[in-house]
Amino acid sequence: MRIGIVGTGHVGGTLARLFNKAGHEVAVANSRGPDTLRGLADELGERVHPATVPEAASFGDLVVVSVPVGRYAELPAEPMAGKTVIDTGNYYPERDGHYPELDEDRTTSSELLQRHLSEAHVVKAFNTMRWEHLREYGRQSSAQRRYGIPVAGDDVGAKRQVSDLIEQVGYEPVDAGRLAEGRRHQPGTPIYLADLDGAELHSQLGAP
Ligand SMILES: NC(=O)c1ccc[n+]([C@@H]2O[C@H](COP(=O)([O-])OP(=O)(O)OC[C@H]3O[C@@H](n4cnc5c(N)ncnc54)[C@H](OP(=O)(O)O)[C@@H]3O)[C@@H](O)[C@H]2O)c1
Repeated sequence: MRIGIVGTGHVGGTLARLFNKAGHEVAVANSRGPDTLRGLADELGERVHPATVPEAASFGDLVVVSVPVGRYAELPAEPMAGKTVIDTGNYYPERDGHYPELDEDRTTSSELLQRHLSEAHVVKAFNTMRWEHLREYGRQSSAQRRYGIPVAGDDVGAKRQVSDLIEQVGYEPVDAGRLAEGRRHQPGTPIYLADLDGAELHSQLGAP
């Protein structure tokens, strides 16, 4: 699959590595431009392409958005229209600035992104694990313990696509319900950064 990664920092860079290893073709973009990502591309090989943000978003059959939440409104919506978009974002007001509707829990950061990318199918995933763990724990998964990744979204097909990717990189996708229910695995919840295995995550989340 062709995957565009918009925001190639700790998490986006880790996902570029994992998806590349799983055999996918990846275009990577950040705010500073493709030249700053040539080192990563050289390290990972010919299936990883430095790109501008619109190029990475257009390249992907699926797009990962992995930027600080406070930057989401800068992203171009048109090249992501109709596509599955993975949102790894977590709201930290001290970093992102205050959004009253998030502070008052009237909505979630993923729903703000969905509102901005109105024609895309946003799925919240890969947001609960520290990037250093995300890089390693998929490989360490075994039949006895496979780490779980919650998947929240409103489009069933998009969630299935993201769940397949999660499995390919060694994790167990766990259905967390609709996009609004992504608030159950945000910062401040017991699931966040808890590194639960699939069964533990299932039992914490209950039925979606
Ligand atoms: N760190 C973790 O362990 C972790 C775990 C789970 C989820 N998250 C969440 O995932 C998101 C990304 O976290 P991170 O730790 O990977 O952040 P990070 O290391 O600071 O990387 C952020 C990336 O976003 C890029 N970016 C910022 N504004 C942009 C824009 N307007 N257009 C394109 N790219 C832009 C940055 O580009 P430049 O490099 O050019 O500045 C950088 O590549 C955050 O919402 C975070 O809360 C983080």
